[in-house]
Amino acid sequence: MNNKIPDFDRIIDRSNSPAEKWNKPAMLRLFGRDDLLPFWVADMEFQVPNTVQKNLVSRAKNGIFGYEYKQDSLYQSIIQWYAIRHHWKIDRSHLCFSRGILNAIATLINIHTEEGDGIIIQPPVFFEFRLIIRDNNRNIIRNPLKIVDGKYGIDYDDLEEKASDSKTKMLILCNPHNPVSRVWTKDELKRVGEICLRHNVFIVTDEIHGDFVFNGHHYTPFASISIEIAQNSVTCISPAKTFNIAAVTDGFVIIPNEKYREQYNVFTKRLIIHKTNAFSVVAIETAYRSGSEWLDHLLDYLQDNINYIRTYLGERIPKVKLVNPEGTFLIWLDFRQLGMDVKELESFLAQKAGIALNSGYWFGRQGAGYARMTIACPKSMIVEGLDKLANAIKNI
Ligand SMILES: Cc1ncc(COP(=O)(O)O)c(C=O)c1O
Repeated sequence: MNNKIPDFDRIIDRSNSPAEKWNKPAMLRLFGRDDLLPFWVADMEFQVPNTVQKNLVSRAKNGIFGYEYKQDSLYQSIIQWYAIRHHWKIDRSHLCFSRGILNAIATLINIHTEEGDGIIIQPPVFFEFRLIIRDNNRNIIRNPLKIVDGKYGIDYDDLEEKASDSKTKMLILCNPHNPVSRVWTKDELKRVGEICLRHNVFIVTDEIHGDFVFNGHHYTPFASISIEIAQNSVTCISPAKTFNIAAVTDGFVIIPNEKYREQYNVFTKRLIIHKTNAFSVVAIETAYRSGSEWLDHLLDYLQDNINYIRTYLGERIPKVKLVNPEGTFLIWLDFRQLGMDVKELESFLAQKAGIALNSGYWFGRQGAGYARMTIACPKSMIVEGLDKLANAIKNI
């Protein structure tokens, strides 16, 4: 990339594009108003690195979009990114592709479990996990996170109990965790991995947010912990969040276990979901090869947004607490001191404050009284959103 600092302050009008976050009918349906300042969908209001945009344009200019294969350089760009940024050595032969993370999770559920089997999730957690399990007629088994001294953690005793049920076959882990923005430590992950090994529970770990960590926290790829844990798990990764290319990327599935890898390849081949998209491969490879500096600037910018929010809430809206963000570009806000029930809070945020946040209960009943906010946007948008919130709270 060129050395210019990206202009993350720039407002880019997405309101006339099919951006989900700005979709008026969707906002009307979900929040009862279509003119909200949106902080709900987990993507960014930022343009991709220059090089990605340039290479996509150049690929479009080529004008021929016949069948393609995945070149070795694509594999190497992914492997190098993880080796350099996360010190995780991915074996080329373990690297498989998917249409995205959720597609990978759904595929793995179908391969590794039967209808009626139990799958553990750790609410409050990304709501799509629950929906995928439900839509595939598996049972949702909840191992809720617990809050100790204001910090979210894993309830290992409860996990051990749930994992020991012979009907429980899988755990879907979120590392780092959306929405509570915990970056799980190596010790925490190791304990989860060992419990699941003891009870023969297979782990699918969603590490899409792994590139976003703050304040000296470190993302630990789950599969890097031990060979045994790697063999009992599949890791789902993707540059969708990192470079804001959700609509033009694939996901990757790292499957160290040979038998499981073979099962995955047979399954995806059977459904013919392994075709190569010309634009996705350009976006992925360019981003991984040249996006490191851009991402460093982005992380600084996000940290500034967090600092601003923390100070603003402390000074002007002390009743709303920020749960300390360790990673992801999503913050978890605690509104419980406002004393509203979930529906009142949801209606207040939309109708009175005019902002679209994801209500905490979407992520499980443990999220009641909280809301999730995407902070990957120009600071001026954050300022506007917080001012709207502060005014609404003042007028209660
Ligand atoms: C934890 C997590 N997993 C998966 C996804 C979606 O991934 P994909 O678009 O690749 O299916 C998201 C998007 O918000 C997410 O936060």
